[in-house]
Amino acid sequence: MCGIVGYIGQKDALPILLDGLKRLEYRGYDSAGVAYLYDGKVKAIKASGKLDKLSRLIANHPDKANIGIAHTRWATHGEPNDTNAHPHTDCTGRIAVVHNGIIENYRALRQYLADKGHVFRTETDTEVIAHLIEDIYGDGSLMPFWKAVREALREVEGTYGIAVLFEGEPNKIFAARHGSPLLVGIGDGENIVASDASAVIRHTDRVIYLDEGTLATIKANSVKMCTLDAEDVTPQVERLSLTLSEIEKGGFSHFMLKEICEQPDTLRNAIRGRLNPDDGTARLNGLNKYFDLLKNVDRILITACGTSWHAALIGEYLIEELARIPVEVDYASEFRYRGPIFRDGDALFVISQSGETADTLAALREAKRQGVAVFGIVNVVGSTIARETDAGVYIHAGPEIGVASTKAFTSQLMVLSEIALLLARMHGLSSVRGRKIARELLAVPDKVERVLSRERELGEIEAIARDYCDFKNFLYLGRGINYPVALEGALKLKEISYVHAEGYPAAEMKHGPIALIDNDMPVVFIATEDPLYDKIVSNIEEVRARGGRILALATEGDEKIAELAQHVIYLPQADPLVMPMIAAIPLQLLAYRIAVLRGTDVDQPRNLAKSVTVE
Ligand code: G6P
Repeated sequence: MCGIVGYIGQKDALPILLDGLKRLEYRGYDSAGVAYLYDGKVKAIKASGKLDKLSRLIANHPDKANIGIAHTRWATHGEPNDTNAHPHTDCTGRIAVVHNGIIENYRALRQYLADKGHVFRTETDTEVIAHLIEDIYGDGSLMPFWKAVREALREVEGTYGIAVLFEGEPNKIFAARHGSPLLVGIGDGENIVASDASAVIRHTDRVIYLDEGTLATIKANSVKMCTLDAEDVTPQVERLSLTLSEIEKGGFSHFMLKEICEQPDTLRNAIRGRLNPDDGTARLNGLNKYFDLLKNVDRILITACGTSWHAALIGEYLIEELARIPVEVDYASEFRYRGPIFRDGDALFVISQSGETADTLAALREAKRQGVAVFGIVNVVGSTIARETDAGVYIHAGPEIGVASTKAFTSQLMVLSEIALLLARMHGLSSVRGRKIARELLAVPDKVERVLSRERELGEIEAIARDYCDFKNFLYLGRGINYPVALEGALKLKEISYVHAEGYPAAEMKHGPIALIDNDMPVVFIATEDPLYDKIVSNIEEVRARGGRILALATEGDEKIAELAQHVIYLPQADPLVMPMIAAIPLQLLAYRIAVLRGTDVDQPRNLAKSVTVE
């Protein structure tokens, strides 16, 4: 949520800043801006709307600079216009600030500063930071600038990642973090501060992650760090495993399509070294140290947001079915404020693609504060959640750039299946069943590949999308483990095509949604073969009897469904426990095709952001 990049070195900073913003645009894209030093003065260029607008303004600009900060915004305070776009400056225009996060006490600070004569020009919470630093620094006689930044941040409540540029210190960028991620890419005679690694990988693979409560003074050849309490911090340089090709579209029309098509490989990455058909269990090195704790666990809690929450719901079915351990799943935002009750024998799993989601992070901190063991299921290596959990399992899906999550979802399911299998074998599942599940999991990538290649050859889903793209409402129904698959299918459609879609457990349809059914209401059923198959067929009949339009996902060889549904998408045979990973694929493709036909911005849907670092 909001992307920050700052450059200091010998090169032309503006193109580097723009390229960095392009990589971070998934974090927010309603306006963007840069501030740089030119001729000893801070200058800023800002534009509402997508980054292209700012790029055009900069392309026509004669200034050259070798130090600057930049920002792509997801508005929290104040509408996304040119004025509210970052960077924000103090009264003198000598200090420029970019910020990711929310300053919760900004009203009080604004009032305090306005009473002292500071003039505010924007509606943002961020502007107070620039004025507060100005106020504390004064004429510079009391303390050096970095100390004024530190003192200002001690007054601020809320979350922030910030980068600051100051005319009086033309060879330095100041950056600080409390709750919103920041790292510094270490180059040769140049350094780049950014919200995440994708903005620095073109220049360097060596990075320093800023820890919570850290302030960094970044020069072209050095990085000095201290805590906000003034203790020195020794920077730790780490190597990135990311490659540039992973964050480029590679010939696909959208990142989302690229990421959908990557799933056979990303699922294989989630399996590699963890599953062996002869073992009948999973080897998850990240959890080894906690073997005894997991063996004795009485209850598992899982918390997450968005698509990751849907994965959690499927995890609940998997763990309860295989390991017979009670599981409770909660939205992270609800969990943390409910005064969660923990018991001895609890373990909490948090699931997050980005590893930065504010609510998920807060939930994990609350659990840790209460002494509960917390494990992460995370994609982004080195992210805050990955670093703050006691242990965890990376899903290794590679960078996911499309705002709508696709490959991360299926990889989360694979890792949850592995965790369920591991727990199940610890808690009494037979080795025979364990081996069967392991074999089923190992077969999933090839089955996903079959779904994708069938679509490449026949274009069935694309044709269905053409028939369905003009409807205004959709219902998605599933039962048992396929109920969360229905939720995820509906979420995919609504987030990228702006079509209203709701997911329900199929049997709940009778308690309300059935009133909506008519010829204008497509109903997508996940009706693959499983113990509840006959029940869902009855639900299909109920929709049919009311003239609803039915699109069913069914298992290959199921002839009966074709008589009931207007359209059927066939999926390869698979154990019901692994079917969600396969059924997710056509639902992602359907949403994608409908969005393309409706002409929406698939990779950057309106109002959304990929990394939600505000509550
Ligand atoms: C945002 C994204 C979703 C994601 C959710 C949770 O809403 O747009 O795709 O599922 O955040 O994010 P996380 O990174 O914690 O999985």
